Parts: sequence; C-alpha cells; structure tokens
Amino acid sequence: MTSREQNDFLTRTDPGTPMGNLLRRYWIPALLSSEIAEPDCPPVRVKLLGERLIAFRDSQGRIGVMDEFCAHRGVSLWFGRNEENGLRCPYHGWKYDVTGQSIEVPSEPVESGFCKKIKLAAYDCIERGDVIWVYMGAPEQKPPPPNFEWATVPPAHRFVSKRTQECNWLQTLEGGIDSVHVSFLHRHDLRSDPLHVSQGAEFTRETAVRFEVIETKGGMVIGVRRPAMPGKLYWRITQWVIPFHTMIPPYGDNALNGHAFVPLDDENCMVWCFTHHPTRSLSAHELETMRHGGGIHVKLVPGSFRPVLNKDNDYMIDRVAQQHHKSYSGVKGIAMQDAAIQESCGPIQDRGKENLVSTDNGVIMARARLRRVALGITRGEAPDGLEPATHAVRSAAIVLPETASFYDAAADALAVRDGVAHASV
Ligand code: FES
Ligand SMILES: [Fe+2]
Repeated sequence: MTSREQNDFLTRTDPGTPMGNLLRRYWIPALLSSEIAEPDCPPVRVKLLGERLIAFRDSQGRIGVMDEFCAHRGVSLWFGRNEENGLRCPYHGWKYDVTGQSIEVPSEPVESGFCKKIKLAAYDCIERGDVIWVYMGAPEQKPPPPNFEWATVPPAHRFVSKRTQECNWLQTLEGGIDSVHVSFLHRHDLRSDPLHVSQGAEFTRETAVRFEVIETKGGMVIGVRRPAMPGKLYWRITQWVIPFHTMIPPYGDNALNGHAFVPLDDENCMVWCFTHHPTRSLSAHELETMRHGGGIHVKLVPGSFRPVLNKDNDYMIDRVAQQHHKSYSGVKGIAMQDAAIQESCGPIQDRGKENLVSTDNGVIMARARLRRVALGITRGEAPDGLEPATHAVRSAAIVLPETASFYDAAADALAVRDGVAHASV
C-alpha cells in the first residue's frame, strides 16, 4: 500500500520537494517552438513544476524563459512589449533581456547603475525537435541535450502536439506504462482509428496478457505478450525513459508515438504527444488526421491547449456507443479516453486506496525506481536518464517464437538504428 508520505514524495514537484529536485536535473519540454515563432512576437506564459514563467524570442531570435513577474512591482510580463532585444514591462517600462537581466529602468539615472542590480530568475533553453526545452537545475549539473529520435529526425518526419491534463503528472505517466489497459479502454478504437489499424491491433484485442518488466540504464522496458499464431507470441514493448518519457508500441507501418508527461503544478500536467517515422516523411493524410485530433493527438479549444472534450462537458460521453460496443468507455478518441479516465481519479490520486494486481507490476516498479533515483541525488548520485544514449531507444511490436526471451530477441528492435525503420506488425 502506498502511504501518504510516499504518494506526496512522488507527486509533488514544487521547488525544494524531492521529486521537484529530481525533475530539475533534466531538460524539460516547455513550449512548442511555434508558440514563439518569430523574433519580437508576443510573449507566452509557461508554467513548469509549480513555477510561473514567461517565454519570449528577442529581436535576434534568442529565447528567454524567466520569472513571469516584473521585479519592480510584480506585473505579469505577459503584458510586456517584446522590442529591441528585450521584454519591457508596460507598467513603468523596466526592460529585461533573455537572461532575465534588467537592461533599462527609465526612471533611474543611467549613471546610478541601478538596473544592473536587477535580475529575474531565468533558465537555460534549447530548441530541438520543434520544442523549446528548459533546464531548471543548478548550472554546473546541466546535462547534454536531449537525444530522443523524434527530436532528431528531419522535421518532415515528425508531428508534435501538446494538451493540458487536469491531474497530477504521475497519473498520466502510470497510464503510459500500463499497457494492459489498451485491450479494454481502447479496444474498439484499434479497429477504427486509421493510425492504428494493423494486424497487431487485432492481436491486441486479446485480453489474456502476460507482463514482463526489465529495468534498463535509462528506465524500463515493459513487454506485454499476447497469443498470436500457433507457437508465436505477439509482444508489445513500451519504453519508459526517466523521468517522464514513454514510447508507445507501434502498429503496422504507422509512425511511432511517444509522450512526455510534464508537471505544470501538482494538479495539472502537460501531455506532450510526439509522432515520428524514422525513415520517411509523414504523409499529408497522416498530418491531416493528427491535426484534426486523430491518433494520440486531440482537438483543442481554439487559442488554448485544453481539449475540446474535457471534464466540464463530461468528455461528451456517448452512452449509446458504450452500450453498443462501439466505444468501451463512451469517450471518443484514444487520447481523450486516457485523459478522462486519469482525470477521474482526482487531481492527485489517493494511492492508499488501491488494490494492485500482477499486471500493475510496471507501475509498481516505476514508482519504486523514481523514489530510488530521487533519493539517490540527495547522496550525490547522478540520476538515470540523463545520458543521451539512454534516449536513443524505440518501442516495438513484434511476433516472436514462444520460447524466445523478448528482451534478447528484440534487442535490435529496441535501439535507434539510422536508416532502419522500427519493428512493427
Ligand atoms: S511593475 Fe513593471 S515596471 Fe513597474
Ligand atoms: Fe491509453
């Protein structure tokens, strides 16, 4: 049973918390490059790990991510004027550069040097894979840049979206690790969603599953097997890269999908959705489908990252579809099925009331691993999942002989191989 202390340990990420300290050791996806596409475009609000930040691109294209509030009297710099290499507070004109340094305080004589003494907290940024990543930890511990395949393929091979989810980040991560729910929650969609239809999707409808979890250097590999043809097993193999990256087993020649589950605060997270194909551009049809909320992506309320289906409208649940075996939950779309189910556990699930079973083994091991890694950094140990090599992994969906050890037999399939497509049936 998970105690209150254990639950708080894993779910709370504000500054100074053990999990907050751990997450601050990684590059964190913070916003889409397209949110601040042009030099001097409007700034955008960013929330990460309970901290309210502002992001902007200055006249030279440099990116700043810093404290949202003006150091003078606390006005939100979201109202700021982004001009001439800095963001200017509209209240009294104080101006900041991308490092958070104040470069102009109009009311004070320049010779006083006052503005040099004012600096907002600001974080290092890196742009990779159409995403702006932020590093919020100590400068001397900054890791190498992220090396996930989706972030390094040519832009035409990739589609990235994000959506807010109204619950703690760990609930979403646990959904990503728990591959068994696919046979239930998503079972009807595997046949109808154009980005999932495949032979593997048919095997996945089988609910007699067995689970094997292997701990790796960067996280965990979760193998779920189901009967396939005689003498063969169908394996769906998920990757979890610490702390919050998951890679979903593919279907047929469809592209690979993955997520990052980033805490905004303790009761809200950003679900990043990455689709990429290692060896080909995404087709116009695939892109069109994803832009309209297909596959793992969702339709958003215009001007926001909140899904159109959300808890205020009960996710527009369709009880008739549920009753007539068209949708297992009655919620439309794979991503929103996950979101609805995970949000329904409450803003922070009380894990003290659970009754875990053997197929929850992946979730149990992930919790234990996160705790171990977070405790490790208090003893000066480097956390897992920082090394770029640990990011260069893939999920897979393969058919193997009954006698094969899946981890050995799938070793090649689980590594990024340049110019070689993913293993998928
Ligand atoms: S509050 Fe920003 S300049 Fe005064
Ligand atoms: Fe799911």
